[in-house]
Amino acid sequence: KAEDGYGLWLRYAPPEGEAKAELSRHPIVLATNSQQDNPTIAVAMAELERGLESLSGLDVDRRASVPTSSLSDVTLISLQCDHPQIAGGGAFSLNSSSSKVSILASEPIGCLYGAFALLRSLSEGEPLDSIAYSSAPAMPLRMLNHWDNPDGHVERGYAGRSIFDWWHLPERLDQRMIDYARANASIGINGVVVNNVNARAFMLEQRYIAKYKRLADAWRPFGIRLYVSARFSAPQDIGGLNTSDPLDPAVRAWWKAKADEFYRAVPDFGGFLVKANSEGQPGPQDFGRTHADGANMLAEAVGNRGTVIWRAFVYSEEDETDRAKQAYAEFVPLDGQFADNVIIQVKNGPIDFQPREPYHPMFGAMPNTNLMLEAQITKEYLGFASHLAFLAPMWEEVLDEQTGRAGTVAEVVSPVGMAGVANTGSDRNWTGSHFDQANWYAFGRLAWDPDLSSEHIAREWASQTFTRDPQANDAIVAMMMRSREAVVSYMTPLGLAHLMDTGHHYGPAPWVCDLARPEWNPCYYHRADAEGIGFDRTVHGSDALSQYPDEIAERWDDPATIDPRFLLWFHHVAWDAKLSSGETLWEALVAEYDRGVEEVDAMARQWAELSDAIDPQRFRAVSESLEIQCKEARWWRDASIAYWQSINGLPVPNGARQPA
Ligand code: GCU
Repeated sequence: KAEDGYGLWLRYAPPEGEAKAELSRHPIVLATNSQQDNPTIAVAMAELERGLESLSGLDVDRRASVPTSSLSDVTLISLQCDHPQIAGGGAFSLNSSSSKVSILASEPIGCLYGAFALLRSLSEGEPLDSIAYSSAPAMPLRMLNHWDNPDGHVERGYAGRSIFDWWHLPERLDQRMIDYARANASIGINGVVVNNVNARAFMLEQRYIAKYKRLADAWRPFGIRLYVSARFSAPQDIGGLNTSDPLDPAVRAWWKAKADEFYRAVPDFGGFLVKANSEGQPGPQDFGRTHADGANMLAEAVGNRGTVIWRAFVYSEEDETDRAKQAYAEFVPLDGQFADNVIIQVKNGPIDFQPREPYHPMFGAMPNTNLMLEAQITKEYLGFASHLAFLAPMWEEVLDEQTGRAGTVAEVVSPVGMAGVANTGSDRNWTGSHFDQANWYAFGRLAWDPDLSSEHIAREWASQTFTRDPQANDAIVAMMMRSREAVVSYMTPLGLAHLMDTGHHYGPAPWVCDLARPEWNPCYYHRADAEGIGFDRTVHGSDALSQYPDEIAERWDDPATIDPRFLLWFHHVAWDAKLSSGETLWEALVAEYDRGVEEVDAMARQWAELSDAIDPQRFRAVSESLEIQCKEARWWRDASIAYWQSINGLPVPNGARQPA
């Protein structure tokens, strides 16, 4: 059967063998005593009906109350959404015995998450009677940030045009908006910022608020709150004021009135996301004020109705020493000054969504500030939607990092949340490639439970999305688990970063060095010369290392003890320096590029063997993407090696393959 991927991981494909027999042995009765007219419970019931019918091949008998006398020879699925012993915030418990499965929660949203969890287990082929599982979200805020512009273009989007149809809203609500909410709710996403952080002020006008209202009303049953990116200079851009100074009373009054307008239309409006004084965006520093002045002014306007999420992604050309240091330098001194309803949203690493970065030193350094992790689901620097790269291992790596100050990054952000820059678009398969759906899925699952292993997530996703066949599933999981490291190896091995060509950030361009702003040039990051390569961030260089806690800084200060994956991020190393592996740096670097190419070839071989296990349409689509990736991994490797050779004059090490 042809599959176009629109159903994502919610295909509810009928299981085979014993699990199928068990599920279709008896008629299925679906019932709840909870208020059927509650929109979230209604959505949960509808999803269960749809999922169970698809999985079992039977018609589900839906009852308005749970039968009191015990029914024999039926499978009974029941929902109780006011169970006093279950925690709030989306927690649920699933219990089953003798063909009776109950979903228990203390609130409707817990029932909805429980319903999706049950369908997930059944989709994975788990037997009905073995389902016993309780879960609660680790983080209160699990958000997507859309970098979607009002004209339909998605900044760093590789899956077609924006899914938001501002042109026809509020009258016309595309069915896709409901399918999108279902997909999000199935993985626990509970907040969506609908527009780009590079925001247009007019999106704060009343005509847009009416559109947000329609979306918010549609998403509310799914537990999703809507947020909007706000342009800091809006009081001047659309408000007729001559300043946007956050301490100016007229500016404060303007934002207060604006927030009131939002809350009149959308009573559970989440709040504003702000990119300020970054990459040319306006901000409080334009008026001699701090980030805290700006954020707190908006926080006051929103009040206890919502949240202001202020991004820490700042850098400017004035700071010539090291872009990696700027956010920490600007924000850490403000620790303790932000209002309670302000969250500072920090990218996983100190530069910008590279295939690998060390964790951002702000994590753990602001104990009196709400910090949230920002990850990029869309693969701006990881081969867009053409290269297969499963990102959960990258996020897991950051979440598990010990900050040396306040536990792991996961522990620092768990009281607050995680935001992911969405990879969705209007492509039929939502994300531009089938495997990129896994990154959306994994983001939600990790925000729900950062202790889940990437491999576990890959397995869950693959069995719902592609196949439960154990051998095929193993092969798909193995491909996914090696994929991101392969990209690191062929693009930015050993701690190199930002070598992608300017603007689009796709192919290799380590040679670019003539852009006006130094930190936009790849040569700024690799610093290769005849002697060696890498960015010296020790005390002899930019001293960015000093932003990390002492025990980490000490370990990373020594090229012999630093994790080799971060070597050239922190050190300028001679081409002929001996590494702990016994190889010279040059030999190790070339070997890494080769490893990257070999890994992609291995992924393509693994996939080629799956032709019988996967539907032809998706099999072909993935095969073709892998063909591109095999070609472009070589492009990366050969162009990079050739360029380094033009600087160091060294031959390709013995035994290694010669560039094609
Ligand atoms: C990256 C990306 C930009 C984006 C920015 C941000 O630099 O290339 O397109 O606007 O991040 O996170 O704000």
